[in-house]
Amino acid sequence: MARKISFINYKGGVGKTSLIVNTAAALAKLGHRVLLCDFDTQSNTSIWLLRLERWNQINATGEGSVYSLFDPGRAQLRDLVVKDVVEGKAGEKLLPGLDLVPTTFNLVDLENEFTGDPKRPHYLVFQEQLAAIEAGYDFILFDCPPNILRASQCGIFSSNEIYVPVNPDALSLIGFTLLVEKLGKFHQLSASFRRAAMGAPAQVQGLVFNAVKTGVDIEVPKMRLQLRLNQFRAAKRAAPAAKILRTQVRDAMVVRRAVALGLPVVLVGSEATDAGPGGDNVINDYRRLAAEIIQHLVP
Ligand SMILES: Nc1ncnc2c1ncn2[C@@H]1O[C@H](COP(=O)(O)OP(=O)(O)OP(=O)(O)O)[C@@H](O)[C@H]1O
Ligand SMILES: [Mg+2]
Repeated sequence: MARKISFINYKGGVGKTSLIVNTAAALAKLGHRVLLCDFDTQSNTSIWLLRLERWNQINATGEGSVYSLFDPGRAQLRDLVVKDVVEGKAGEKLLPGLDLVPTTFNLVDLENEFTGDPKRPHYLVFQEQLAAIEAGYDFILFDCPPNILRASQCGIFSSNEIYVPVNPDALSLIGFTLLVEKLGKFHQLSASFRRAAMGAPAQVQGLVFNAVKTGVDIEVPKMRLQLRLNQFRAAKRAAPAAKILRTQVRDAMVVRRAVALGLPVVLVGSEATDAGPGGDNVINDYRRLAAEIIQHLVP
């Protein structure tokens, strides 16, 4: 069974997209079959990996975008998957094993105009379609916006695990707290639609410090986050094994550059592989993060 994981925090801009894209790339490099689903209408993951030209073609009509599952509702998820999404300039496949379900700006309509069928809510529609293709994957990852509105609900309902990217600041802690509150409410709302075969509802399994600057001491924010996590674990509102991951992802210019190049950091080349302070680099951070997630097996 594929491991299904959402990256989410109620705080925006903490690094959900950069972490999920680069972790997905690290997993694919290890030979895992990875499906990355973009549930953020900003389309950052989709534009990054498809690059603007290919993404524009989908955005122009909405055909091939995840919203077409809901409206007009005739699309099949398996037809939306862009296989081996990362391509070079000549269309050569650069990262076999990393597939994408793209979104475009029309996903915002899921929040307002879409009415749907209360007996078959949007998140159930998505989950049923995902179940039909999930055997082809080892990891299915969901990039979510900083909320648990309808688009996020699709990812969260289909997930069994949640990782929360955080920056070493007070707002990330507030975002984490709000996330756990909203998550509890969504699980209550959606409980009657869950089936045993779907496994446990997604709980927070890990928090990941991202964009940590060299020489900045993060012990105080880390301690505050650990205290909050302990409270949630004691109240059974986070997974019993939930933890702050050992891996921290450093702040590195190449992470921003990679977006402009349309590549995960691991494919950027010498700029990314050059050793930074301590003789290490950000690619190794993503590799360590992927390895830690692989090891963090959920019972
Ligand atoms: N480790 C890093 N080093 C340097 N810059 C980073 C790092 N991680 C993320 N960034 C940059 O920070 C910005 C926000 O990152 P990202 O888009 O991944 O956050 P997000 O949580 O997905 O945001 P949103 O809430 O808008 O979806 C981007 O410009 C990204 O390139
Ligand atoms: Mg994002």
